[in-house]
Amino acid sequence: MLPIRRPRRNRKNAVIRNLVQENHLTVNDLIYPIFVSSETTDKEEIRSMPGIYRFSKDAVLKEIESCLQLGLKAFALFPHINERLKDNQASESMNEKGLYLSTIRLIKEKFPESFIITDVAMDPYSSFGHDGVVVNNEIDNDKTLDILGKMALAQAQAGADMVAPSDMMDGRVGYIRTILDKNQFTHVSILAYTAKYASAFYGPFRDALDSAPKFGDKKTYQMNPANSREAMLELELDIAENADIVMVKPALAYLDIISMFRQHTYLPIAAYNVSGEYAMVKAAAFKGWIDEKRVRDEILLSIKRAGADIILSYFAKDWATDYGKVQ
Ligand code: PBG
Repeated sequence: MLPIRRPRRNRKNAVIRNLVQENHLTVNDLIYPIFVSSETTDKEEIRSMPGIYRFSKDAVLKEIESCLQLGLKAFALFPHINERLKDNQASESMNEKGLYLSTIRLIKEKFPESFIITDVAMDPYSSFGHDGVVVNNEIDNDKTLDILGKMALAQAQAGADMVAPSDMMDGRVGYIRTILDKNQFTHVSILAYTAKYASAFYGPFRDALDSAPKFGDKKTYQMNPANSREAMLELELDIAENADIVMVKPALAYLDIISMFRQHTYLPIAAYNVSGEYAMVKAAAFKGWIDEKRVRDEILLSIKRAGADIILSYFAKDWATDYGKVQ
C-alpha cells in the first residue's frame, strides 16, 4: 500500500512552504538589551559576549540611533557602575545625576520614539551582588520592596516607558504598580520577570555588570529549574498584581514553561534569550562548528513557536541587520 496522505506535498518548494508557515518573526517582536557603563569612554566588548558592548553615555546614543534605523525600537537598558558606588541599599539607583537615570533622560530626549524598558533590581548597585537587601546573610523581601518601589518611580520620572522588575521578590509587581499609580504614572507599564529561574545561563551577563553574588547564590528567590507548576503559581500572582506582560527567563531550556504560559493567560508573553544562550552560539560559531545565522534564526523562531510574543535577545541587532527594516 502506497501512502495517500503525503505531508511532503506542502514542502515541495519555497512558495508552498511559505504559504503554510505557521510562525514568523519580525523586528517588531524584538527587544534589544543594552549595557551602559560609567567606566568606559566609548565602548568596550564584553569578554564572554562577542559583539555585545558596554557603552558610555554618549556612545549609547549612537547605538540606539543605528538600531532605530534598522527598525529595532525597544531597548532593555542595564547599568554597569563602579564598585565604589555599590552598597546594600542600592543608593546609586536613585541618584538623579547617576549614570542610569541620566542616560534614560538623555535617550528619551534625543529619541522620543524609542521605547525604553528599565531594569528594576538591586544587583547592579548592590555591594553583595544580590537582588535584595542583605540582613544577616539573607535576602529580606519586604525591605527590598521599599527600594524597588523607589527605584521604579525614579525610572518612570526619568522617562521609562516600561519598568521590568527582574528581582523575584514576592509581591513586587503589585507594590510597584501601586507606587506608580499614586504618582500619576498610570501609563508606565510593568514587564514582570514572572518565572525567572536560578540559572547558570546568566554567567556572561554577570561578567558584563560585574554583578556576580559575593556570597551564596540566588536560589532563595529565583526559581528551581526542576519546577513548572511553581511557574504557574508565579503567573497567577503576577496576573493578580496587574502585570502588563509576563516573562519567562531563560528561554531555551524553558520552552515548555513558555508554552504553559500561553495556555494559561491572555496577557502578552515575553521570553529572555539570555547571555549564556547567546555565548554558546557565538562560541560554537567561532570554532566553525555551527552555522551561526541559521542556528540563531532557528532559536528565535523556536521561542515564538513555543508561544512568546516578544523576545529579548542579544541577537536582536544582528537579526535586524539581516531582515529588519523601518516600518
Ligand atoms: C538580575 C538579572 C540577571 C539578568 C538580568 N537581570 C542575572 C541574575 O539574576 O544574576 C540576566 C540576563 C542574561 O543573562 O542575559 N537582576
